Amino acid sequence: MGEERSIETILEEQRHFDPPQDFSEGSHLKSTDEYEKLYKHSLENPEEFWAEMAEELHWFRRWDNTLNSDNAPFYKWYENGKTNITYNCIDRHLENSNRNKAAIVWEGEPGDQRVMTYWDLYREVNKLANALKKLGIKKGDRVAVYLPMVPELVISVHALARLGAIHSVIFAGFSAESIRDRVLDCNAKMVITADGAWRRGNVLPLKNIVDEAIADCECVSDVIIVRRSDSTAFPCHVKEGRDHWYHRIVDGESITCPPEEMDSEDILFLLYTSGTTGKPKGIIHTTGGYMVYTYLTSKYVFDLKPEDVFWCTADVGWITGHSYLVYGPLANAATCLMYEGSPDWPDRSRMWAIIEKYGVSIFYTAPTLIRTFMRWGKKWPQKYDLSRLRLLGTVGEPINPEAWVWYYKHVGQGNCPIVDTWWQTETGGIMITPLPGITYTKPGSATRPFFGVDACILNDDGKETDSGYLAIRKPWPGILRGIYGDPERFKETYWSKWDGHYFPGDGAKKDRDGYFWILGRVDDVVNVSGHRIGTAELESVFVEHEDVAEAAVVGVGHKIKGQGLIAFVSTVEGVDFGPSLEKELVEMVAGKIGKFALPEKIIFTADMPKTRSGKIMRRLLRDLAEGNTMGNISTLADPEGLYKLKAKYEEA
Ligand code: WT7
Repeated sequence: MGEERSIETILEEQRHFDPPQDFSEGSHLKSTDEYEKLYKHSLENPEEFWAEMAEELHWFRRWDNTLNSDNAPFYKWYENGKTNITYNCIDRHLENSNRNKAAIVWEGEPGDQRVMTYWDLYREVNKLANALKKLGIKKGDRVAVYLPMVPELVISVHALARLGAIHSVIFAGFSAESIRDRVLDCNAKMVITADGAWRRGNVLPLKNIVDEAIADCECVSDVIIVRRSDSTAFPCHVKEGRDHWYHRIVDGESITCPPEEMDSEDILFLLYTSGTTGKPKGIIHTTGGYMVYTYLTSKYVFDLKPEDVFWCTADVGWITGHSYLVYGPLANAATCLMYEGSPDWPDRSRMWAIIEKYGVSIFYTAPTLIRTFMRWGKKWPQKYDLSRLRLLGTVGEPINPEAWVWYYKHVGQGNCPIVDTWWQTETGGIMITPLPGITYTKPGSATRPFFGVDACILNDDGKETDSGYLAIRKPWPGILRGIYGDPERFKETYWSKWDGHYFPGDGAKKDRDGYFWILGRVDDVVNVSGHRIGTAELESVFVEHEDVAEAAVVGVGHKIKGQGLIAFVSTVEGVDFGPSLEKELVEMVAGKIGKFALPEKIIFTADMPKTRSGKIMRRLLRDLAEGNTMGNISTLADPEGLYKLKAKYEEA
């Protein structure tokens, strides 16, 4: 594996970067001693530690047990505690000088701007919550949110959480069919969308996509439309009785709406993510534990200070946007920057222009974007004053040391620590990460576990090793509570590999300093530009085509995207595999999943490598696509065919 080789090199190199002294002096955690003490306490007395941390937030009723493991792995945190996350993210800040502080500083792709203070956010959230109530939305109802990165996205999510309704945000790059699957899986009553979304100067007709998606979804009784694009290029059809303009329903609504007193274990949201089967999983996060975990990780990992402007570039359609835009930073009364559009619109300096203009001090983005910036060249950031930046972060995939160092030099100008944060949709928040004031970092390593996180590396037999599978030994408050409607899959996927340990699905190594190096997925999940794509999901799209007999999709290293997808497809007998079939398959993937899931290459072959019992040997396809020497081929039915395929692949 190429990735592994470069990590070996770095391990030998032992490059490391100390936090700048003035950063450490001003940070929440100042010394390694202080950290060691707190970390030890968090592992030795987790319940005490997590109770102390939860006390920093507001509860309508205090919990009885901090952790109840009776029904593990269905853990309960802060049992019988009552709270509301929107109260902690908004109302709590109205009682002091944060009332008039900017909560969201937003820039639209066309260049329009909006600043919302905590008090503004309070009013907008409550008005919408009251309007939703009139439409019959109540605690426990599921509502899908399919919006571009506009302030109404944050407002909608908070308004739903205020009422105790369960939000399921769907990334606006997903196709109609993906929306339909997600809406039906949880029986959503409502969809909140926009007429259109700006993307590189064009408008995507979001509402039309929703219309197509929910045409046969009887569960959906209402659709709310945010007016964003006013495009004349396509008509936005408003269906009488079902569809409502956002600005009309909030108009004149009361600005007070008491928050629902949620049980700590009431569901806060669902977020669908890919797994190893064709069906996306609705990851369940509940109220109290998720709130405490995102609050605390935001505070320590990003070292949030009152004067910071925090910019997490992730879309709210993914977990990063939930935990580190909508919830965690707001629980800390931070000022968050939110940008609607593309990083190269109108030109490649957009991100740096935004950092300069708003004085962004903390910038959290993905390795794929850093590699893109790198390819565009340092002349773009160099034109701007980035001197307010004091901390940088990355998330989503392993970062290659070259990109790390480029980020450090050309964005951070050698003055900013970098936090490489490992976590997942399922973990709710950051799990392995440097703490910027105290951790010396090594490019490519997410360093050490966060407070309360007992991470280790195990082999198949559950024995501890230095190189194997990442595992987490203890539950933490942000952990997923299940897969919606499928408790068996939850147990099987995450808790069956070893007894009582959480299995994230990543390979990892630990070096002599106890630093973790995440090596990537060990299952059939591919990480394309930080987006998780299950190969089985793609394969099932291909085989839906009547001319396709079989398909196998594998991930390979990609310079910018981290990983790319290669599809091997065999056709039914007597069918030619010409360019028209390829075009149809591409359209099917775009239509059924979304354009971000398109493969780099589709290779048609009659020589799919199989075992004698007829199973496709994806491992060999991966070796072939990566250009590695072939692994064990002794179980292969037709070795000759594999060599033919190899020659063909190299030609393509
Ligand atoms: C998978 C989770 C967490 C938000 C974004 C992705 C990979 C994530 C890192 C990192 C190496 C990373 C893992 C993980 N990953 N962060 N810092 N270093 N790998 O969320 O879609 O749930 O994907 O992303 O493979 O399992 P996700």
